[in-house]
Formats: sequence, C-alpha cells, structure tokens
Amino acid sequence: MTASQLEKKSQGWSALFDEPMSALVQRYTASVFFDRRMAQVDITGSLAHAKMLAAQGIISAQDLADIERGMAQIRAEIEAGSFDWKLELEDVHLNIEARLTQLVGDAGKRLHTGRSRNDQVACDIRLWLRGEIDAIAALLAELQQALVDVAAEHVETIMPGMTHLQVAQPVSFAHHLLAYVEMFARDAERLADARRRTNRLPLGAAALAGTTYALDREMVARELGMEGVCANSLDAVSDRDFAIEFAAAAALIMVHTSRLSEELVLWMSQNFAYIRIADRFTTGSSIMPQKKNPDVPELARGKAGRVAGHLMALLMLMKGQPLAYNKDNQEDKEPLFDCADTLRDTLRIFVDMIGGQTDPATGKKSGGITVNADNMLAAAQKGYATATDLADYLVKKGLPFRDAHEAVARAVHEAQSRGCDLAALPLDVLQGFDARIEGDVYEAALTLPAALAARRTLGGTAPEQVRAQIARHRERLAAA
Ligand code: ARG
Repeated sequence: MTASQLEKKSQGWSALFDEPMSALVQRYTASVFFDRRMAQVDITGSLAHAKMLAAQGIISAQDLADIERGMAQIRAEIEAGSFDWKLELEDVHLNIEARLTQLVGDAGKRLHTGRSRNDQVACDIRLWLRGEIDAIAALLAELQQALVDVAAEHVETIMPGMTHLQVAQPVSFAHHLLAYVEMFARDAERLADARRRTNRLPLGAAALAGTTYALDREMVARELGMEGVCANSLDAVSDRDFAIEFAAAAALIMVHTSRLSEELVLWMSQNFAYIRIADRFTTGSSIMPQKKNPDVPELARGKAGRVAGHLMALLMLMKGQPLAYNKDNQEDKEPLFDCADTLRDTLRIFVDMIGGQTDPATGKKSGGITVNADNMLAAAQKGYATATDLADYLVKKGLPFRDAHEAVARAVHEAQSRGCDLAALPLDVLQGFDARIEGDVYEAALTLPAALAARRTLGGTAPEQVRAQIARHRERLAAA
C-alpha cells in the first residue's frame, strides 16, 4: 500500500471501493491497540530489510540513510509515548510506515519494496516471541535456583510423602521441592526447543509466493540473529505453529506452578501448618479478622486455566485455515501476549514467594517460605509411614513380600486400635505378627530417619541422594 493509499484508507480505501468502512467495522478489523506492543521489533525488522535492499542495489544508500534517520525518531517518539497511533491506519505496521513517509518522504514509500504485511507480521511475532522466551527462560532458572536453595536447608527435614493425599512414606522436604525443579528444568528444555523453530525468518515470502526482487534473505536472517529462513513462502506467512508450541510450553509451566500453588495452599492451612509465606503474598478478610488468605497461589492456580485456554484458542484459530495468510491470524496476538504476560508475572512472583529477596542496600533477606519442620515431622508420625519399611525388614529376613505385607497390615490394625504408632508397639506384640521380628526392628525400620536413609536408589529420598541431586542442579544452573 502506498502512502496516498494509506491516506485514502482513512476515507475508505482507494478508488476500488464504492463505500467507506463503518466505524464499527474499522474498530473490528483494527489491531493497532494491541499489536503496537510489537513496534520496536517491527522497526528492527524493517531496518534489516532496508539494509538488505540497499546492499542489493534495490534502494539507494541515501534511501537507507533516510529510513534509518526516520526510524530512529519514530523509536524515540514511541518510547516517549508521543507517537500518535491512529485507528484508521489499522495496525502497527501501517502506522509506523505512514509516520516514516511523513518524516522522510519517498524513502519511506520505498521501504515496503519486496515485502508484504503478511511476511512482516510473521517476522514481528517471531522476533517478539524470541525476546519473551529468553526472559521467561531466565525467570525459570531463577525459580529453580530459589527452590534448590530452600531444598539445601531441608535435606533432613522429614515430611509425609503422600499418595491419594494420604500419608504414604516419609520423604525429605528437599526431595519434594526438587521434584518441582525437575519439572521446571524440563519446561526450560521445551522453551529452548520452541525457540529454535521460532527463530527463523519469514521475510522474503512477501504476500505468499515470494517476490520478483533479488532479495538476500540469508543476509536479513543474519542481521536479525535468526537461525535460518523459512523455506516455503506459503508456509512462512501462514503458520503460527511456533506460537502454539510456545503456548503449550507456557500452559505446562502454569500447570506446574498451579500444582505447587495447590500444595502451598494446603501446607499453609491450619490443618497442615507446614509452612508460612510472607505477608506480602496474602490478604486479609473483610469480615474475619484472623484470616491470612493465600491469594497469590490461588490466583496462580486460577490463571493456569486462562493460559491453557489461550492454547486452545490458538489451536482453533489455525485448524480451519486454507493456505496461505488469512485475517484470522490477527487473532493470534492477544492470546499469545497474555500467555507471556501471565507467565512472566507468575514466575516473577514465585521467585520472590519461594526464595525471598535480598535488599541490596542492607543485605537483609525478606520473604521466602518459612518451614515448620516439627509440624511436618509430627504429620509423618501420624499415618504409619514406616509400614512399608517393616514389610521390607521382614522380606530381608526371608518372608515373601506378600506375606510380609499381610503381617504388617495386622500390626497397623493393632496400632490403630491402641491409638499409637508402629514404633510404640512393644517387641513381644510385634513378634506376635511374625516371629522373625527382633529387637533391632525399631532402629532398622521403624524410625523415620532410618526409613528415609534406606531409600538410596538413584533419585530416591535418602539424604545422600538428595545432596547429590542438589549438587547436580547447582552445577547445571551455574553453567546455563
Ligand atoms: N494486522 C495484521 C495481522 O495481525 C497484519 C497482516 C495484514 N495482512 C493482510 N493481508 N491484511 O495479521
């Protein structure tokens, strides 16, 4: 579109059109109020394109200089908030191009040579998303670091490991936190993988078929730090699978933070009382003066649904589109932007909520979770968490596992009827369930630290294993 067409557009396009757009349709089709957040990458893409056009002799060195000068001013205007965004110019691309032409004349009109908004917008989204992925990857590393640091303090803090939310076997609190570190580490791998496919150049595809100008696409890709060019022009302008991959990775990260949130909410309740989180992540009640509600983890849990919804929106957006570009694709931006915003905010808050913050001035640390190890231990003592250990003890003395399981079930039943723990049953009572039980049973199987230390398999909860995992994560995070 030429600048005069751009001007006519505000009056209803060109001579081809018999009537202007209604104000409602103009608002319905415009995207400038959300896609203007891609303004800086739009300019970056345009400058790389212009530099290549000049290198190929398609525009003059003077045109390039004019474009660079105009764009520098536009960047400054946008940063200062003085840029005059116009709804009638539809989107970020046409707004910037119109302003450029206003500032530098014909050179501005030459910028769009060999380009279409179809490949331009695809390029912008990719550049923008690349930046978001990098910021989110950094936050994921910070969150893992915060979890590892808390874990390092609690290798020997014992809590009840749960299945079906019932006490199952004792685990180290550090081990529990490191489960989340594993999840976030895989999330980081997924993001890095999605980044490779995001970081490819669609420019040069033009509207859909390529262009008649001798463009050097490889040069533009190098200028923009991209890892390659999209090899098919129809695919380059039309697919948004890279955005869908990102949204899927984002939804999964939110699901992981949502699971952690659910645990924080449980652990903070009076019935568990395992931890406290800093007051700045909680709110009071307007009616109940005693309340401190875990609003932040609850909201994170709720927002996981919102991001998963955006993933669905993007999948549905794509599914019915014939090749190549269709205006449907304009709907990719709001869900994508909100995925990134929601995820970034959530991760930022979690880094502080889990690990706390050190004031650079005073060196004082505030926030972070506070652990009540006594309550965790007391909870682990309640649910016969060492029952499997007693069965394993009998197996090591020659009893088949199924028989051992049965003998211990009877012992648990007896302890329940006496209202005590297995370790509180006298030796002669225990021996009534199996004669192989000896005086060493208490030390060897029925104490929680013994149960913990015995699970020495690779990836198990024994303190020596947990320490090895902490060391591995620290090395990995330091190298990244
Ligand atoms: N605002 C449009 C989008 O977001 C830019 C591409 C418009 N291309 C077109 N042929 N109408 O997709």
